[in-house]
Amino acid sequence: MSKRVAILTSGGDAPGMNACLRATIIACERAGYTLFGYEHGYNGLLEQEYRQLSLSSTHNLIQQGGTILHSARSKAFKTVEGAKTSADNLVALDIDTLIVIGGDGSFRGADHLSHYWPGQIIGIPGTIDNDIQGTDATIGFYTAVDTAVSSIDKVRDTADAFERIFLVEVMGREAGFLALHAAIASASDYVILPETFHNEESELNNIVQQIENRRALRASISYIIVVAENVWPGGLSALTQSLNNKGIEDIRPVTLGHVQRGGSPTSQDRILATNLGRYAVDLVGTDVTNVMVGERNQRIVEVPLTNTWKGRKPLNNYRLDTMQKVMNERF
Ligand code: F6P
Repeated sequence: MSKRVAILTSGGDAPGMNACLRATIIACERAGYTLFGYEHGYNGLLEQEYRQLSLSSTHNLIQQGGTILHSARSKAFKTVEGAKTSADNLVALDIDTLIVIGGDGSFRGADHLSHYWPGQIIGIPGTIDNDIQGTDATIGFYTAVDTAVSSIDKVRDTADAFERIFLVEVMGREAGFLALHAAIASASDYVILPETFHNEESELNNIVQQIENRRALRASISYIIVVAENVWPGGLSALTQSLNNKGIEDIRPVTLGHVQRGGSPTSQDRILATNLGRYAVDLVGTDVTNVMVGERNQRIVEVPLTNTWKGRKPLNNYRLDTMQKVMNERF
């Protein structure tokens, strides 16, 4: 039976959101469903700002960063009034299924809406932070890792030239996935992660010890510390000052910032986005609802939305250990 489906992208945009939109547009077209795209995340749902999506929107879409539907973090939607208005708007447009591409905040929003709207809700994980439980990776994560790595490679050139110490802050909100993966792939010398951070003094002692060990072997060295955002009290300037106080001078801080959110998605993100977008449309009309579709060990999984933000998604212990074992050796 023909269905009416709506889709939106919400929260921090992530490379691959457009690839996911492309897959859902094509899958809906093939199934004979009508697909509407809400603009500006949940704000579009509140304001009835939508347009019908058709195959003509999919041209050259797979490789585009950002999201053609735009994104937002909507405060108004979080209220009871906001959810009720959104529910009324979905009813007015006669929508059967709402697909939400976003991160944990967007999924909390979807869950909030489910208390006021009886239709089918499907989430697709899209965030560079990879902090969503139940899926190995989120759309955009590996592209952001690659962006951070290519930036750190460039920092290394100047770090080596001047034999300087660099602090490189990467995004991730409260999670260290981006920092850990960027540190391993760029062969950085040290990484500061929310998951392993105990206190400033012990991190500082580790860093100073390592720098001294290196200097015992070679008088001048370059040294790169990857720092996950929101971990170090006072940020990179405070960390620079604390290292200066311990006798480590000539430090340069670099914040990669929103650069990590942009760019064309890697093939890994395009494939994940395409698979999940197609699968979400496969679920339309079934009794599966209030779930996120994700991938674990290359298999599609359905995870209750409420499980996606419970607790903290753990870092892979083996990869953490790899960082310690392979990067912290003297050489
Ligand atoms: O959630 C994605 C993310 O890029 C985080 O890594 C970062 O902390 C946050 O969004 C930045 O948000 P904004 O773009 O609203 O400054």
